[in-house]
Amino acid sequence: MSCPFNHSAELNPAVLPLDWLLGTWQSDEPGEGSFPSITPFRYTETLHFSHVGQPVINFMFNAFHAESKKPLHRECGFIRLQPGTNKVAFIIAQNSGLVEIEEGELTGQQLTLHSTSLARTSFAKQPYVQQISRHIQLKPGGRLEQTVFMALEGQPLTQHLHITYRRTD
Ligand code: HEM
Repeated sequence: MSCPFNHSAELNPAVLPLDWLLGTWQSDEPGEGSFPSITPFRYTETLHFSHVGQPVINFMFNAFHAESKKPLHRECGFIRLQPGTNKVAFIIAQNSGLVEIEEGELTGQQLTLHSTSLARTSFAKQPYVQQISRHIQLKPGGRLEQTVFMALEGQPLTQHLHITYRRTD
């Protein structure tokens, strides 16, 4: 019986420019979480990027409190590239009840994204995020870095997260 996850599929050429993301990444040291309205915190995170041969990258990000190890933020989704361009889109679902589209550019091994669409469940917890910006880049030496900024009502885009990862497979 063939595997439903199609691990052996060849990478679709449409997403070849994103092949540097594929695999599993684990935070090498705890990431730093902050925002003016919260107590700063430290977290660990595992990222999985995979594909099944479609012109799409699938991803799952799972974060944990660095000290208590409690599962915290989780998000998963899909990455698409507009054919023939460096325009990239992340289609994301978050465990908080937020869904978002982020669009931006792929430049070498660097992604710069801004939310273009946000929606949430009717009973999602306040405060509501108004805008998200995200930078993901492969650093010299092979570490991956992610920085996330968010805006809330009355609080312009401000850094919420910074973390680096090492590839584990
Ligand atoms: C794009 C992704 C994310 C969004 C949109 C987001 C959004 C938010 C928002 C709106 C708040 C509330 C801020 C406030 O009360 O003023 C918050 C707090 C927080 N976030 Fe995130 N977050 C994201 C990712 C993460 C990740 C990856 C972690 C990792 C563990 C995390 C951990 C926390 C923690 C611990 C708090 C403080 C909770 C509290 O004090 O009640 N967030 N986040």
